[in-house]
Amino acid sequence: MRIGISTGGGDCPGLNAVIRAAVKTAVGTLGHEAVGVEDGLEGLLRPNKLVQLSPARVRGLLPRGGTILGANNRANPFAYPVRGAEGVQEQDISDAVLGRLETLGIDAMMFIGGDGTQTIAQRLREKGLQVVGVPKTIDNDLMATDYTFGFDTAVNIAMEALDRLHTTAESHDRVLLLEVMGRDAGWIAMHAGLAGGADVILLPEIPWRFDAVLDKLERRRRAGTTFSIVVVAEGATELGGEAVVQEEALPGRVRRLGGAAERLADRLTDAGWEARAIVLGHIQRGGTPTAFDRVLATRLGHHAARMMDEGRYGRMAALRGTDIVDVDLTEAAGKVKVIGPDSSLLHAARDIDVSLGEG
Ligand code: F6P
Repeated sequence: MRIGISTGGGDCPGLNAVIRAAVKTAVGTLGHEAVGVEDGLEGLLRPNKLVQLSPARVRGLLPRGGTILGANNRANPFAYPVRGAEGVQEQDISDAVLGRLETLGIDAMMFIGGDGTQTIAQRLREKGLQVVGVPKTIDNDLMATDYTFGFDTAVNIAMEALDRLHTTAESHDRVLLLEVMGRDAGWIAMHAGLAGGADVILLPEIPWRFDAVLDKLERRRRAGTTFSIVVVAEGATELGGEAVVQEEALPGRVRRLGGAAERLADRLTDAGWEARAIVLGHIQRGGTPTAFDRVLATRLGHHAARMMDEGRYGRMAALRGTDIVDVDLTEAAGKVKVIGPDSSLLHAARDIDVSLGEG
């Protein structure tokens, strides 16, 4: 069998570890052939964008961040940006993609990606392609898997940033606000905030109130603590307000968020506090994966290769508890996993007096 492997959406620590495990299993152990499609599905639309993948080619990849196949979050074949007389417009070019796969003799595709990629995989499956999914996102917001690889690395990076911000916040008696990624779900903000001892954590799931944030800062000041640390997910919104958008959605792309922490810092400054906002940005996505992510990525890549060998298509490898299982792609595609109102994370945060900006 000739297997195609593609990494879709934004990059993420652990992608190379998935590719490595999938190739070692599928090619080295099971005797199939594997080719990497470069730059997401863009690689199927342009010449010379396939790379032969062998166990020798994936050697040394475990600690390497990014993806050797390139990533692309603008190559959705069902909404592909095409420049025409009326500017750039989204077109469905999925038939061309399927035709190209046939020409290339690719029997089945392994799609490593987040919600957008798994949705594309599901739609291509509906058109007859043999697909297997591997869940990926630093945001951890993909349904049907308990964790995605890349998340643990992002949380550790954000936690280290918070540890560093503590010492400078304390020295200067300041409120320091750290903006982390998380458009629709606050998993990074919540985990990093708890691990890094934040005083306030603002999530996309819980609209915040300025008075509630002020109340927490004032209580700390009255208790003699002159600094505070606030973690803000990029998608967190004030009650009745909107997310802070850097760039509206262009054809084939989602809108770009950013600036939520800066906006809150400005409000705090106006209220007489000395506040600074720091955007952690893509530092969360770069660099070497943690041990947890390397192991999770390896297990998922291995499982996905086995699924293909056994003909279990239309499914996505997933972590359930401590087991690697596989689930129907429809359980993940098009759905976002948020922190639910009954999450023990929320209860723990409230009970240890971390403000979530509510009330
Ligand atoms: O989905 C992962 C993610 O890192 C989001 O948290 C973030 O909003 C987005 O990607 C940023 O995308 P880009 O790299 O295209 O700006």
